[in-house]
Order: sequence, then C-alpha cells, then structure tokens
Amino acid sequence: MKAVILSGGKGTRLRPITHTNAKQLVPIANKPILFYGIEAIKEAGITDIAVVIGDTGDEIRKAVGNGKRWGVKVTYVQQEAPLGLAHAVKICRGFTKKDSFVVFLGDNLIKDGIKSLVDDFKKKKPNAQVLLAHVPHPEQFGVVELKNNRVFKLDEKPKKPKTDLALVGVYMFDHNVFRAIAQLKPSARGELEITDAIQWLVDKKMKVNPYIIKGWWKDTGKLKDMLEANRIILDGIKQDIKGKVDKKSQIEGKVVIGRGSEIKDSVIRGPAIIGRNVRIRNSYIGPFTSVNDGVLIEKSEIEHSIILMNCRITEIKRIEDSLIGQNVQIIKSKSKPVAYRIMVGDSSCIEVL
Ligand code: G1P
Repeated sequence: MKAVILSGGKGTRLRPITHTNAKQLVPIANKPILFYGIEAIKEAGITDIAVVIGDTGDEIRKAVGNGKRWGVKVTYVQQEAPLGLAHAVKICRGFTKKDSFVVFLGDNLIKDGIKSLVDDFKKKKPNAQVLLAHVPHPEQFGVVELKNNRVFKLDEKPKKPKTDLALVGVYMFDHNVFRAIAQLKPSARGELEITDAIQWLVDKKMKVNPYIIKGWWKDTGKLKDMLEANRIILDGIKQDIKGKVDKKSQIEGKVVIGRGSEIKDSVIRGPAIIGRNVRIRNSYIGPFTSVNDGVLIEKSEIEHSIILMNCRITEIKRIEDSLIGQNVQIIKSKSKPVAYRIMVGDSSCIEVL
C-alpha cells in the first residue's frame, strides 16, 4: 500500500498565521501537524508517500525533505490550483499506479494513529474505506448514512444532515477511485469532491466500508481546534528536562524543556512544552502551553497558548487562549503617551483589556 497526504489549501480560517506559513506546518506541541500524519502512516507500515502541495509547496518541501528522517520515501506532486480533494487524488495516479492507497488530509490529527484501520482495510479488501466519527456539528463535514454496515449515502456539508457521522480526513481506496473521479463535475464550491467520488463507487455497487473512530481526532482548521489539539497532545507528554532550571524556579507536572533553554525565577505548570534555546525569566507558564524555539519570556504570564519561534514577550500580565506567530514582539509600552502601539498583519485578531 501507498499513501497520499494532501497538503495544499490556503488555510483561510487560520489567517494571519497562514499568510506566511502553510497550515499543515503550524506546530502542535512544537511539532508540525503534518509530521504527526507522516508518523501515523509510517506506523501503519506504509513507507511510500506522495505529498500533494500547492502554493506553500516550497515551505513543505523544506520542512519534510525526502522523508529519510522517518524512514519513508516522500515524492512531491504539485497541484497547480486548489481544485478539490478528488482533483488532488487524481493527479497522484502516476504515483499510486495499480496499488491501493491511504489518503490523509495533512491538517487532520488522529491521536491513536491509523494502523488499526489500515489493517482492517488490508484484511477485508473493500474498494474503499472511510474513517468516520460522531460529531456535534455534522453540517461542517462530509456526512455519511450507513445501511447494513456499508456506506450508503454521502453528502458534502449538507444544510440538514441526516446523521451525525462525519468523514474524518482519512480515506482508503483501490484503483477504482480514479474511474469515479473521471466522472465528477465540480461542486457548488467549484471543487472536485472526494465525497462525490465515493458516492459514485457506492452507486456502482462497489464495497465502501465505514470505520468509526473511537479515539480523539481533529480537523485543525481554526484557532480553537489548534488549541484543543495542543491540549490533547500535551496531555500525553512525559517529563523531560534538558535545559537549565535555577533553584528559584518550580516545575510542576508534565513539562518538557529543550536543550539550551534557561528557566529563571519562574513557575512552569504542566502539561507544557518549552522548545530549545528559550529564555524564561520571572514568569509563569501555565498548563497546555507550547513555547517554540528561541522565544524570550520575561515578567509575564501565559497559559493555554501556542507561541511560535523567536517571539519576545515582556511584562505582559496575562496571555491566554492565544496563537502567536513567529518573531512577534509583545512588550509593555515604555514611551509617552501611554498607548497601545500596534503593527499587525492582515486578518489578525487582538483582544485588549
Ligand atoms: C474536507 C472534506 C469533508 C471532510 C473534512 C474532514 O473538508 O471535504 O468531507 O469531512 O475534510 O476534515 P474541507 O476541510 O476541505 O472543508
């Protein structure tokens, strides 16, 4: 079996972070979301992976490389325009050839991995298998109806969903999916929908199996989802302190501190991860916080947040529920008149006291 990871898309719901970064590379517990997908695929025993890239392709190539780091072989397939998930699969035909394959959406995080469902697919050999989850807002997803434990009807983001079973971003196919995609017409949002391709397989009486996920998963399109994903992943970390912690500091619970980092006169309450070469002085870092490499935090309190590389945060009373991009400075104003002085990118959101 092979795997195809879809890593195009513009990430509009995560602006401004995605003005400059691919959404699949936003780190969760200091590791890009996409890397969790690669690890899950490797763990399922698949080592031949195509990554479909779009506008942010260069950045993704740079971050992932040839896959050696994970013991996999990565091939890149360029999608010239965001024409839909089915289109992205279509252009991988030269890569998958006659093999069956997994399609993994690069912004989805599946906590327990995909080994059990890949094993199930290999054993039962259906034409397709879809990963499903019961969700509170099915109208935001592709929604599935089952009959006799087979997939019977699929609908892409229906206004009035008939069930609460959503398509999670992992699909498995044999080569018949290419016949299905060849018949598709663009949907109302102008895309070739993978959901419609699967419906075609069902209509042609092919075997499409459901696999209902039991563990936690997330489609990390929005800030709230990112923070939740960060929470879940941090909950599973183990304490590992490589940096220096002075006597006046207190480390509580599951905390990871990377090499070259220095914690002085501060409280770090886990679960939390501090990257490499981070300096934290006279501060409080609360639960569910990820602080990336090279950050400086002084006289500040931060909780339930994701801080990307090389930020500087000084004398800020309290930051919560935040995602702060790379090289950002949030510092207490010292000059007169006393005022907020803000230089901030497009589509940002700032809540002040
Ligand atoms: C896509 C699929 C949808 C699926 C979702 C899972 O939606 O079209 O059927 O439920 O991924 O993440 P998109 O994220 O492209 O809106």
